[in-house]
Amino acid sequence: MSIAGEVSLQTRAQNARLAPLAIDGPASPVPWVRYAGWPTRDTSKFNSLTTIVSPPAPGAPRKISKTLTGDPAAGQKLVADRSRGGSCLACHVMGPAGGTDLPGNVGPDLSEIGNAGRDDEWLFNYVNDARVYNPDTVMPPWGTHGIFSEAEIGDIVAFLRTLKSPAKFKTALDDPMKRPAPIEQRANLDALINPAMWLIEELAPALWKTAGPAGRSCASCHSEPAQAFRTWAAAMPRWEARLNRVLGVEEFVTRHARATTGQNWLMQSEENTALSTYLRYLANGAPIAIDTAGAEAKAAYQRGEALSMRKIGALNFSCADCHGADKSASKWIRGQWLGELRGQLDHFPTWRTSQQSIWDIRKRFQWCQVAIWADDLPPDAPEYGDLELYLAGQNAGQKLSVPGIRH
Ligand code: HEC
Ligand code: HEC
Ligand code: HEC
Repeated sequence: MSIAGEVSLQTRAQNARLAPLAIDGPASPVPWVRYAGWPTRDTSKFNSLTTIVSPPAPGAPRKISKTLTGDPAAGQKLVADRSRGGSCLACHVMGPAGGTDLPGNVGPDLSEIGNAGRDDEWLFNYVNDARVYNPDTVMPPWGTHGIFSEAEIGDIVAFLRTLKSPAKFKTALDDPMKRPAPIEQRANLDALINPAMWLIEELAPALWKTAGPAGRSCASCHSEPAQAFRTWAAAMPRWEARLNRVLGVEEFVTRHARATTGQNWLMQSEENTALSTYLRYLANGAPIAIDTAGAEAKAAYQRGEALSMRKIGALNFSCADCHGADKSASKWIRGQWLGELRGQLDHFPTWRTSQQSIWDIRKRFQWCQVAIWADDLPPDAPEYGDLELYLAGQNAGQKLSVPGIRH
C-alpha cells in the first residue's frame, strides 16, 4: 500500500466523527410489558435467554412393571389438543388423527408406530422425556416440564399403540411431505401491496423534518439522508464500545435522537419503527456486512451463536431446533414452514399481513420466545443484540429489501 493511502486512511479515521448517543437510561419502556393479546402464562420456571432454571432431564428411563392401562380415545384427543404445547400433530402425522389439521413433519410419521414393536416402557419414556434416549432430541419433555400428567401420557401411549395403518390425506395440502413450500413473491416495495410503504413515503420523511425539544430535527444535520445513509444500515448491528454492547438500528435511533433532537422515541414506538424502517430502506440493495473483527464484537457474535442454541421455555426449544439447517428448517410445523436462519433478516422490519402491523426483528425474537412458552425480554436487552449480530452474520451478503411483507 502506498504512503499516500496510509495517510488518507489516518486522516479519515481522525475526521470520522462519532454519532452522538445518549448513553444513560433504557431504550425501551420500563418495566417492559408483554404485548396485549400475547399469551400470559407464567414461564419463569424455565430457561430464558437470560436465565438457566429449567428442571433437569431424568438420569435414566423410568421402569414400568406392568402394562399401562390408558384410554386410547382420551389419548387421541390429547395428541390433537393445541393448548398443550401446540399438539403432537404440529410435528407428527398420526394416522386417523392426522390429515385433519395440517399436520407437520418435523418428527417422523407415527401412523404405524403401533407395528414398530415399541413396548409401553419405551413409549412412555419417549413421550415423558425423550432426552433419556436421545440427548439431541427436539421433542419437548412433556412429562418433566409438567405439560402432560403421567396418566395423560398413559392415555397417549394407549393411542399410539392403536396406530397401525398409513395416514389417508384428503388433499396433497394435508400431507406435509407433498405440501408445496411457500415462496414470498409479493412486490414488497409497491405501496399498493405493502401498507408499510406508508412509513417510507409519509411518516418517516415528516418525522425527519420535525424539530424536537432541542429545537433541531434530523434534517438540521442530515439534509441528504438518501446520499449519506446508502449503506449504513447494512453494517448494523455493531459493537458499540460506549454502551459496552451490540447496538442495532432501532436502539441507535432512540439514543441518537435523544442526544441530538431531544426526542424520546423508544424502541418499537411508531416513530422509532418508522425511522428505523426508513434507514434500512435507504440501504436497500446493499449486502449485509457486519464487522466482527474486534475482540468484543467477536465475543458478542459467539454469545449470540450460543444463545441461538440454548434450550428455552416450557417447550424446551432452541432457535436452532426450529431454524437450524441441520435440525427442523425446511420442514413444516403444523401449517407453518420453518425457514433457515439465512434469508430471515434482509426484509426486516416487515409488514405482517396476519397482524396488520409492522414488526422489527426484535419483536420477531420476542414472539418466537413467547410462542414456545418462554419469557420474552425488553427490546433493548443485550442478549437480543448478541443474537441479532449472530443472525446478521448468518445473513452476510444478503441484500436488504425493506420493508418486507410476510404472512
Ligand atoms: C416440535 C416437534 C415435535 C412435537 C411437538 C412432538 N414431537 Fe415427537 N418427535 C419429534 C422428532 C423430531 C422426533 C424424532 C427423534 C427425536 O428428535 O427425538 C420425534 C419422535 C417421537 C417418537 C419416537 C418415534 C420412533 O419410533 O422413534 C414418538 C413416540 C413421539 N415422537 C411421540 C410424540 C408425541 C406423543 C407427541 C405429543 C405429545 C410428540 N411426539 C410431539 C418431534 C416432535
Ligand atoms: C446535531 C446534529 C445531528 C442531528 C440533529 C442528528 N444527527 Fe445524526 N449524526 C450526527 C453526527 C455528528 C453523526 C456522526 C457521523 C456524521 O458526521 O455524519 C451522525 C450520524 C448519524 C447516522 C450514522 C450513524 C453512525 O454510526 O455514524 C445516522 C443513521 C443518523 N445520524 C441518523 C439521524 C437521525 C435519524 C436523526 C434524527 C432523529 C439524526 N441523525 C439527527 C449529527 C446529528
Ligand atoms: C418451535 C419452532 C420455533 C422456534 C423454537 C423458534 N422459531 Fe422463529 N419462527 C418459527 C415460525 C413458525 C416462524 C414463522 C415462519 C413463517 O412465517 O413462515 C418463525 C419466524 C422467525 C423469523 C422470521 C422469519 C422471516 O423470514 O420472516 C425469525 C427472524 C425467527 N423466527 C427467529 C427466531 C429466533 C431468534 C429464535 C430463538 C429465540 C426462534 N426463531 C425460535 C418457529 C420457531
